[in-house]
Amino acid sequence: MRLHIREMLDGQRTPHISFHTPGHKRSGDDITELSYSDSLLSPTGVISAAERDVAGILHARRSFLLTDGSTCGVFSMLFALKERRVRSLAFPVSSHRSVYRACRVLGIEPVLIPQEGRAGIPQQPTREAVAAAVERADALLLTSPDYYGFLAPMSAAKEICRTHAKPFVIDGAHGSHLHFTDMYAGNFADMWVDGVHKSLPAMTQGAVVSCKTEEWEAPLSEGAKTFRTTSPSYPIMASVEEAVKWPRNPLIEGAAEAFKREYGAVGNDDWTKILILFGEHADGAQRTLEERGVYPEFNDGNYLLFYLSPCTKESELKRLGEILKGLPRGTRIAAGRIPIYSEGV
Ligand SMILES: Cc1ncc(COP(=O)(O)O)c(C=O)c1O
Repeated sequence: MRLHIREMLDGQRTPHISFHTPGHKRSGDDITELSYSDSLLSPTGVISAAERDVAGILHARRSFLLTDGSTCGVFSMLFALKERRVRSLAFPVSSHRSVYRACRVLGIEPVLIPQEGRAGIPQQPTREAVAAAVERADALLLTSPDYYGFLAPMSAAKEICRTHAKPFVIDGAHGSHLHFTDMYAGNFADMWVDGVHKSLPAMTQGAVVSCKTEEWEAPLSEGAKTFRTTSPSYPIMASVEEAVKWPRNPLIEGAAEAFKREYGAVGNDDWTKILILFGEHADGAQRTLEERGVYPEFNDGNYLLFYLSPCTKESELKRLGEILKGLPRGTRIAAGRIPIYSEGV
């Protein structure tokens, strides 16, 4: 499959004198919107071609490239909801801070869905909790998968929202690698965001926000235009297009699942997230790993999370396993350090 933005960048390698931003004045990939490079806000050229391909891969009516992270995607989706007269939004209490902040900025009332903590891990809300919250709100947002690698009850949520004729959106900041599968947010939601830079090989801040039907196209486009930068990074946009087109890597997916079994990881739904309980030894385990050049995604005081992608090498998993063999595992669950990315509780 063609990489439209990359091809455009590679085709423009002839020296040119820059009387345009950015101020570093170097030619190369970090250009701005020029006569030949299209415009993110009103794309008609390579960006439009990339967005069309991305939408096709993500089963979307329309997809918008973002260079401002999933945060921008969350703001754009909530803007679109507000445009369609949504005044209150149900979402789980440990949702990302961008959901709380967007509600605040847009004047949307949060209807919080309680989440139980089990063994120190926030559980996805039950079907009953989702149903009760949807009764009290104009729309629903779920996060799937979450940071700990658990899927939301997306099928039930879709059915509940359809019954009540209420919109359903998904924060898929951690799930863009699932677009190959039936667990993908785009199979369930009216709008969703893909944090392509987290679980696929895009540069940091690369993301996509998408909608399923024509109904949401105009308001979501307005949302993206409102919240994203007017100076998008071409290296990030090119990397998002390439990451969405990245092939599946069944070898590493299989190796990750085998690794989880061998090293007693928590059983979750997502091969990219290996979650290991260290309890009272969590900080020591992190220190030892980092002294040996191995960096986990997070340490929440109980668990270390090792975040994989299709670019993770089997040799790297093997190295992780060798170190893990020598590390003590605790069992104590310390209270009060979850959820780790939310400011709502
Ligand atoms: C669940 C969730 N949603 C949204 C975001 C925001 O993503 P970004 O950092 O790409 O803006 C994050 C970031 O960690 C997240 O964990």
